[in-house]
Amino acid sequence: GDLGIVAVGFSGGQPKAGVDAGPAALIDSGLLSEISNELGYRIHGDQQVNLYKELVPESDPDYRGMKNPRTVSAVNKRLAAQVYEHASQGRLVLTLGGDHSVAIGTLAGSAKAIRERLNRDIAVIWVDAHSDINTPESSDSGNIHGMPLAFATGLARDDNDEYFGWIKEDMRMSVKKLVYIGLRDVDAGEKKILRDNGIKAFSMFDVDRHGIGRVVEMALAHIGTDTPIHLSFDVDALDPMWAPSTGTPVRGGLTLREGDYICESVHQTGQLVAIDLVEVNPSLAATEAGALETVRAGCSLVRCALGDTLL
Ligand code: ARG
Ligand code: MN
Ligand code: MN
Repeated sequence: GDLGIVAVGFSGGQPKAGVDAGPAALIDSGLLSEISNELGYRIHGDQQVNLYKELVPESDPDYRGMKNPRTVSAVNKRLAAQVYEHASQGRLVLTLGGDHSVAIGTLAGSAKAIRERLNRDIAVIWVDAHSDINTPESSDSGNIHGMPLAFATGLARDDNDEYFGWIKEDMRMSVKKLVYIGLRDVDAGEKKILRDNGIKAFSMFDVDRHGIGRVVEMALAHIGTDTPIHLSFDVDALDPMWAPSTGTPVRGGLTLREGDYICESVHQTGQLVAIDLVEVNPSLAATEAGALETVRAGCSLVRCALGDTLL
């Protein structure tokens, strides 16, 4: 198949340096050559990491409580165009982050392209410890990596192009087509948003109760079998035992096998149109080994989503 790659070295959605080096670490460990040589994809697009330095404005004061709002908006507007371009050509789009704010752009780009090309709404499987659906007003931190789904679904909006006003209706996704797996650190304001909008979520409690096999089955049943899927995987969904090198680790997470299983199952649907792998921050682990483990885990998830099989 054809794969469009977008490597986004971006950290402006949260305060910790180093997550901008995530894509380079994944690529340096051989991920792209495995994808082309072992999994047989034709890779399209710039295999260099985009840092988008030229898009960073001279001043970027807080707006509606958001930190770095103009920077995050401008980078995501560009990213949306890149993802749109790949997806319009029928390529499976792989975005390597970067913090999770980059999903504002990836979701906008794939929603619009899939709507135009297939006349379908995308479904989103969001695998994360966090629900990342704060509005600027509900957020305690002001970090935009905790808000991507609010902008993607239209729960948060702004008229000004410099503050995500470029996200138009044809770039949005439905809250009905969103499903979470792995949640265990959801803010009080987010719990209300999930409840009020009837959003489907499988927390770690559900994974423990039903097992990952049944949870994935129920998640896929919720979005429907014949629906294009955008998989957005935050590496912090995994337990810090497998992915310690990330900005907001939360104990009690998925095992690496459970994460891989989600990716393998989503691949098997044959409906995958885009994958984000985000929040790998090689500079945060207590040990060098911890950083390497996190990168290895990220590569494993991506390979599984692209159809690498055990047998
Ligand atoms: N809910 C918290 C916030 O809004 C944490 C978000 C963490 N998000 C992430 N993509 N790691 O700031
Ligand atoms: Mn997270
Ligand atoms: Mn996230």
